[in-house]
Amino acid sequence: MSVAIEIDGKRLQVDPGMNVLEAALQNGIYIPHLCHHPDLPDIGSCRLCIVEVDGQEGVQPACKLTVQEGMKITTDSPRIAAQRKLAMELLLAAHPEDCSTCPKYGRCELQTLIQYMGVSATRMHTRIKGFAQNNQNPLIIHDMNRCVLCGRCVRACSDLRGVGVLQYNKKDMETYVGTLHDKLLKDSGCRFCGACAEVCPTGTIRDIIEYSPVEKKDTLIPCQATCPAHTDVPRYVRFVKEGKFAEALAVVHEKLPFPECLGRVCAHPCESECRRGQVNEAVSIRNIKRYAAEHGSNDLWKKNSKHLPATGKKVCVVGGGPAGMTAAYYLAKQGHDVTLKEAYPTLGGQMAYGIPSYRLPREIVAKEAGYLNDAGVHVETGCRVTDFVGLKQDYDAVLLALGTHKGVRLPMQGNDLPGVLVNSDFLRSAAMGQPTGMGKRVIVLGGGNVAFDCARTARRLGAQEIHLACLEARDKMLADEEEITQAQEEGIQIHPAHTFEAIVGTDHADGVRFCRVKSFTFDENRRAIIEKEENSEYVIEADTVIFATGQRTDITPEAGLELGRGNSIAVQPGSGRTSVAGIYACGDAVYGTRTVIQAIAAGRDAASEIDKALGGDGDISEVLAPVEVPDACIGKVEGFGDLPRAEEQFRCAEARSDNFAPISAGLCDSAACGEAARCLQCDLRFRITGHRIWSDYMDEKEGAAQ
Ligand code: FES
Repeated sequence: MSVAIEIDGKRLQVDPGMNVLEAALQNGIYIPHLCHHPDLPDIGSCRLCIVEVDGQEGVQPACKLTVQEGMKITTDSPRIAAQRKLAMELLLAAHPEDCSTCPKYGRCELQTLIQYMGVSATRMHTRIKGFAQNNQNPLIIHDMNRCVLCGRCVRACSDLRGVGVLQYNKKDMETYVGTLHDKLLKDSGCRFCGACAEVCPTGTIRDIIEYSPVEKKDTLIPCQATCPAHTDVPRYVRFVKEGKFAEALAVVHEKLPFPECLGRVCAHPCESECRRGQVNEAVSIRNIKRYAAEHGSNDLWKKNSKHLPATGKKVCVVGGGPAGMTAAYYLAKQGHDVTLKEAYPTLGGQMAYGIPSYRLPREIVAKEAGYLNDAGVHVETGCRVTDFVGLKQDYDAVLLALGTHKGVRLPMQGNDLPGVLVNSDFLRSAAMGQPTGMGKRVIVLGGGNVAFDCARTARRLGAQEIHLACLEARDKMLADEEEITQAQEEGIQIHPAHTFEAIVGTDHADGVRFCRVKSFTFDENRRAIIEKEENSEYVIEADTVIFATGQRTDITPEAGLELGRGNSIAVQPGSGRTSVAGIYACGDAVYGTRTVIQAIAAGRDAASEIDKALGGDGDISEVLAPVEVPDACIGKVEGFGDLPRAEEQFRCAEARSDNFAPISAGLCDSAACGEAARCLQCDLRFRITGHRIWSDYMDEKEGAAQ
């Protein structure tokens, strides 16, 4: 049943119960309005939307007027125009006159209304409120001098979110929006969802961080934007909060095939950018993913997983690390006949032969590598390819995901003495249970995560004295803080700010001669400028020295492919095409040693490009989890801002340092859902209906008329 009304002579059939403003806007008739927001209850405070109704006295706010059968409405008349102008004058009486200094300039709804109504803001300005801008809160700025008391923020906080932190306060006869007793948002139970900033029509309540409209989503959901694979972090975290682990796992699988591996070893750039970190501590995103992967059923994502019909095209992927496995997996799902050739006995690359098993148990790598078989990839392990170009005879496309498996020896005296090892060989031998050549006193040269993997592996293999030295100062070391702390707990002696002068010894390494570094910077050409401390030279004795100072791709110019810096494979930016037609490259072999998640992202890109080259559309996206509508009403949680981060459970140093059993148990059952509930749900505000200005309605009207 609809209701027949007439607006400005136009006959309309509208839904009963709606107000006149909504009815007009829905039908392309613009009525100025400010305090109205489609997601919020109307209060009729700004009076810009006033209209006349045939047979009724005076004017009335259209947002508070329910449609009635036969109602005839006029949206513009001399009386309406005069009263609207008066309403605007009242709004602007204490508003700053100069819009150009406002960070919301160009995106302010009030500014567009001033333009639409053709009024001069300057003429109407009568007083200054004199509030100090409140920069005390994380994420959000309150500048009550710009407030026109439309009340949207208060309604968003209470009616939409059910939080109710914002309210009207009064000071020196001036009404303003604030919290009870003007407490900080964090002390008031704020959830920092950003709804207030989202609905504010002026520059009054706004995000501290500034962004252009195109940057908005990436800026305000930085966890997803920073993830190289763009995993929908808020969505899977919310599923974990609700105890829906299979759904959470399916969300992760929409972007990558190895959630459990990443739950253990992802470098989690998402956590570095997590906005909760500005409130107190970042959400433990990696561990939440791990919990979902360990507790969620695989049935859901497998049931929804796509597999396109066979294309008849053959692809060979060389290299079974995270990049190669990811590319092979998605190419097979696109319907191509994919063969994956791996030189070592099992799949995994650095996940199996670089990262030690105490961080990433091999059975997890094997389990998730098994998804490639499910996808139909023909896996050939123990198959070292030497003639890459020759593969073109048998395949329509070849992808080289060779990784960086060759350790680098720095050019220094003694670097080739017996007892001098390189990171990759050492870690691979340890992983394969083969002799490493390590003695009892070990020095690791390097300060990144791989150096710590070497040092901690040496500890577990029985080394009695382990030193780790690097050029960087302690606070500039490249390894994760957690790695450094745990290594120290395991008795590894760390020597930051040291130069490596020489490996001493005649027929075997006997130690390393170091100098202490006074300062270490880079010049404008990224050349290292090192100032040594005078007379600081000294030797640490050892029978084993391990270079952990970088890795390269094991390829030579004889392979017939153009090589780039650091022995990388040169590719066309964006396409992954090498100098040889039909041969692509991706991952560490292209850009140097990076993280597992970056390799996975590179594998996805390569799969998409190759699919396009083979006649597909390159669309490897999948919807594996149900598309949910999250509850907008998140409610108040006392002390929400101070809820501490749930920490990963590690075994103590004594229990872990002489064996390769997993060192971490992740989050305990009682902590996982609670940790997920700490998420600010930064994505929720993007479900709030976006504001439309008068020109949008005009454009729509013109579009409909054409
Ligand atoms: Fe109707 Fe403000 S929009 S009174």
